[in-house]
Amino acid sequence: MDNSSLFDLTGKVAVVTGAGDGIGKASAQILAAAGASVAVSDLNPEKAQAVTDEILAAGGKSAAVACNVLNKDDLTNLISFTVSTFGTVNILVNNAGLGGGGRENPYNIDLEYVERIYAINVFAPWQLCKLAAPYMEKSGYGSIINITSMSSINNSPSMAIYGSSKAALNHMASNLAFDYGPMGIRINNVGPGATRTRALASVLTPEIEAKMLAHTPIHRLGEVSDIAGAVLYFAAPVSAWVSGQTLMVNGGGVQTLD
Ligand SMILES: NC(=O)c1ccc[n+]([C@@H]2O[C@H](COP(=O)([O-])OP(=O)(O)OC[C@H]3O[C@@H](n4cnc5c(N)ncnc54)[C@H](O)[C@@H]3O)[C@@H](O)[C@H]2O)c1
Repeated sequence: MDNSSLFDLTGKVAVVTGAGDGIGKASAQILAAAGASVAVSDLNPEKAQAVTDEILAAGGKSAAVACNVLNKDDLTNLISFTVSTFGTVNILVNNAGLGGGGRENPYNIDLEYVERIYAINVFAPWQLCKLAAPYMEKSGYGSIINITSMSSINNSPSMAIYGSSKAALNHMASNLAFDYGPMGIRINNVGPGATRTRALASVLTPEIEAKMLAHTPIHRLGEVSDIAGAVLYFAAPVSAWVSGQTLMVNGGGVQTLD
């Protein structure tokens, strides 16, 4: 393979959920910069449109679509919109996710909360895989990337639902790799450590940050570009023989909120 083509996504079509901000936005931007046409989807349509406008202004290809991943019809519409706009789906980034933040004291949360977190972190990615896989198979190029979390392997208080849902997503991918491999589809996970986004800012204090940095050999918190780089790796031909894997992107350390 010619080296210049290892990270080239020209002609490929990508879908990113929760792409109006944070890690999803950075992922959409890096995939577009590599040549992919990107369906930028978000619960908030204005944010999705703003990211699309930035990609178009930078010379990339993109279209915005509203999608609440908790709504089954929105998931179906996301894939049909992408296929009708760009012709197929080759790359799916299951980024939208919620929960954790040290707010899951088992005595204070109820079953409805648990169902909601699993619906966004596990059921929606599963459904999007199912909807997108036939197009990936037909097109001859498919790569699915789930954004999971260091919380999928950390153990800390008040994180049981978020952590276990992200662990489920890791394990789902390592199993689906066996189903999808023969279809020419790869599926992998990127597990961010603490990464500077709006979601992290809502729980970070100077004390928590200092504790995190004490356990982080690359002595800083993550930036969204750090996570997007791993997404590009899994999306691109450079990782053609990599499937079923989880890559923790965490500065070499362990960051927990306690
Ligand atoms: N930031 C971190 O430190 C960190 C660490 C580990 C894992 N993660 C994971 O990374 C992913 C992105 O997190 P982030 O920190 O970039 O978040 P963020 O808050 O910066 O952005 C999340 C985006 O998702 C959208 N969104 C929220 N609910 C949605 C829904 N139901 N349907 C569609 N879109 C929805 C929001 O509108 C927003 O644009 C999540 O899966 C999160 O669990 C983040």
